[in-house]
Amino acid sequence: MNELNSEKAIGVFDSGLGGISVVRAIINLLPHEHLIYFGDTARVPYGSKSEETVIRFSHQISSFLKEKQVKMIVVACNTASAVALESLQKNFSIPIVGVIEPGSEAAVKVSKHKRIGVIGTASTIRSGAYRTAIRSLDPDIEVIDQSCPLLVPLVEEDWPHDGVVRQVLESYLSTFQEHKPDALILGCTHYPYLKSIIQEVMGPSVRLVDSGEEVATRVQRTLAEMNLLNPESGDPGKHKFYVSDFPQKFEEIASRFLGRPLENLFKVELEVLESYK
Ligand code: DGL
Repeated sequence: MNELNSEKAIGVFDSGLGGISVVRAIINLLPHEHLIYFGDTARVPYGSKSEETVIRFSHQISSFLKEKQVKMIVVACNTASAVALESLQKNFSIPIVGVIEPGSEAAVKVSKHKRIGVIGTASTIRSGAYRTAIRSLDPDIEVIDQSCPLLVPLVEEDWPHDGVVRQVLESYLSTFQEHKPDALILGCTHYPYLKSIIQEVMGPSVRLVDSGEEVATRVQRTLAEMNLLNPESGDPGKHKFYVSDFPQKFEEIASRFLGRPLENLFKVELEVLESYK
């Protein structure tokens, strides 16, 4: 039995390390919360996998986090939020929040001309999850979306932001040239790392919405509503990181994403993870 109480950790998961951008946003807003992060580094990317597979992986990780007695789960991965959130919410009794709704809400708020752009992985865009969430908030909003499959590997490789990255972005973002949106949702964990060059290519009139940052506010609200916020009088929160593999360049990428070295890092064998339902 998982007794929810305010001192328990918040579980956060992603297909890999990209979701650490979400951890960063939660730490900034809620420095007293304990966090347990799971990055599925052995099975990343999720963005090109089938819905069925992403749902299975998301269930396994959520079961793992639940066993660690987390008080809520944040699905930091846009792809998993897009395809697996509903099924997770049906099957787990703790609060589970994804990044799609908070990102959509923020974009609807800032879009004056009712035209919103969305970029994400192939699976996220194919799912239509952002489109559905935005249209349910305001059916008059025009949504233009574009999958950008090359951006995740470019960020992971830390490719310089000029040259190839700029060319690739110019090509993907040309979708938005004719009917320019006034808000663009960065619908993938990796895109905040390209924020300044995306802003340059889109131009200053377009507001970029970082779904990861927006979810931190949603986490705060959900915990407050349930009386589960960790009191601010105690020590700063402790953070633990679990991964399913230590890939090449792991340390480099991980510390770049977090902005400091990762402490309390553990590996979970894939066979163990696969034993969860
Ligand atoms: N975390 C994924 C997302 O936000 C990007 C990486 C992947 O494809 O797994 O959609």
